[in-house]
Amino acid sequence: MKKLIIAIDGPAGSGKSSIGDMLAERLGYAHISTGSIYRAIGWKAHQCGISLADVPALVHLIEETTIEFRRNADGSLAVVLDGNDVSHAITTNEAGMFASTVAAIPEVRTGLLSLQRQAGKNGGVILDGRDIGTVVFPDADAKFYLDASAEARAKRRFLQLQEQGREANLEQLIHDIKKRDFDDSNRAVAPLRKADDAMPIDSTNMSREEVVNTMQEYIDRLSDRAAS
Ligand code: DC
Repeated sequence: MKKLIIAIDGPAGSGKSSIGDMLAERLGYAHISTGSIYRAIGWKAHQCGISLADVPALVHLIEETTIEFRRNADGSLAVVLDGNDVSHAITTNEAGMFASTVAAIPEVRTGLLSLQRQAGKNGGVILDGRDIGTVVFPDADAKFYLDASAEARAKRRFLQLQEQGREANLEQLIHDIKKRDFDDSNRAVAPLRKADDAMPIDSTNMSREEVVNTMQEYIDRLSDRAAS
């Protein structure tokens, strides 16, 4: 069976990561959250004391940085930055805000494009992000646009952070998510938007299983159509 490239785009907290993991497990595919690439760069810049507005310094930083994905024993992918596993460090809300800031810079996006295309080129992969179906893989075999209300998304993040034993403030998370939606949707380059040929899914009132089932049915229909 053909190994597909599957794109899942959508705003912060729409469930792309957990849904991507579940779908990947069902299909036996790899799943890459491309936000982790922007998070890793934003996080490293912050650690190095580089201003997130200093474009030449960020471009230089990208040139001398390696980002790899290493498979953990449980099948998930670790984000390895310059040889160190930063998967945990980059999941903070703060790292998400850094990521959103650097992701608005065209030179940063260009610098990180080939890494994403390289990671997906052999198929058998699910990539989630903001511009996978529009820019990174406009010819992806299946595209989804996952959304949910800002309040539902903030609540999910809140529970996730609590589970990890991290401090969380729901009001602050709602505020941050709305700001990130605005910034991600209004930037000049590769703004967050649904690809014309993406299937929209509003998960506000859906369980994860229901979302994954909807995606799988769509993929099965595509595969049946390709086979007939
Ligand atoms: O999905 P996430 O929350 O980990 O993404 C962090 C930020 O990275 C997000 O606010 C916008 C940016 N991003 C992007 O611009 N393009 C992508 N393909 C993925 C993420």
